[in-house]
Amino acid sequence: MSFYIAGTGSAIPEKVVTNDDLAQFLDTSDEWIYTRTGIRQRHVLTHEKLDELAIESAKRALADANVSGQDIDLILCATMRGDTYTPSLACTIGEAIGSHAPSFDINAACVGALYCMEIADSFIASGKAETVLVVGAEAMSKLLDWTDRSSCVLFGDGSAAMVLKKGEGRLAGVLSTDPDSHVIRMPNIEGINSPYNQIGQEKLAMHMDGGEVYKFAVNAMGKKIEEVCAMANLAPADIDWYLPHQANARIIEASRKKFHIEREKVLLNISEYGNMSATSILVLLDECAKKGTFKKGDKLLFVAFGGGLTSGAVIIKWKKE
Ligand code: UT7
Repeated sequence: MSFYIAGTGSAIPEKVVTNDDLAQFLDTSDEWIYTRTGIRQRHVLTHEKLDELAIESAKRALADANVSGQDIDLILCATMRGDTYTPSLACTIGEAIGSHAPSFDINAACVGALYCMEIADSFIASGKAETVLVVGAEAMSKLLDWTDRSSCVLFGDGSAAMVLKKGEGRLAGVLSTDPDSHVIRMPNIEGINSPYNQIGQEKLAMHMDGGEVYKFAVNAMGKKIEEVCAMANLAPADIDWYLPHQANARIIEASRKKFHIEREKVLLNISEYGNMSATSILVLLDECAKKGTFKKGDKLLFVAFGGGLTSGAVIIKWKKE
């Protein structure tokens, strides 16, 4: 017995930054960004805090699943960095929803939501939890070098959540890493005013070898789709909906073509949000769930890759009406 998705919610910053806005201070253009990535705009935190968005998306998911904070047995938050190192963002969310459940953050970069699903599966399978809250929350705009046009144009901020409940739903899941500390790297601050070590040895911003990530991504997405379908005893054609990590529309298109997947089955929202790391897949899920895209019994395949380098895929049968 594993879990099904009982509710979803999301919260996105108000401020929209278009490609043309970026071209005001970077040597770039809407044409370059759109044709290379499929991105038209992204949302960026201004007056809001990431904590607030994460709490709001969690509350929306709880309401959608018709459960309260006290019903939650485990809170997992996929994030690369919350507003505070401690408390973790998961603990901050727990405080806001009145939960005393074990709560911790997971950093698996863009694959974070899938890592959370697999951890939730283990807690539920071992009898340690029946209802799990998974939240994705990323403030990418605070982690970027805004003078580096090859990376800062790709990302956006946002938060989304889902409630997982014990029951039939998850059909298979696979996670892995291909450890590499160079192609995507985001150092953090090592200490302030310490006489023993100095800050500023590395810039607190993302370094990325886009071409290398691209090659890894196309390969990893294909491998994970194959592996997870084999585990569930399904062919890629048996999947009703693909929810791929929204990093680059060209990467998604390459995977789609490899498996001859019909274009209509591959869900996209990258043009509006860019890459929101761990949050992307959850925002897509919430939007499609609210639009009524999924029918009861539909098979959804989530697939993602990211810094680490991490990758993973999960297949879920949709249970809601
Ligand atoms: O969640 C994981 C996060 N990361 C990713 O998913 C990144 C994966 N990689 C990619 O999406 C693509 O590699 C990029 C979109 C980052 C780059 O696309 P590309 O087709 O691989 O372009 P490129 O790196 O080969 O660059 C081509 C040219 C270069 O100029 P030169 O050297 O040919 O003169 C770049 O300097 O485009 C230039 N360039 C830009 N030009 C205008 C790079 N960024 C920009 C920009 N605007 N924003």
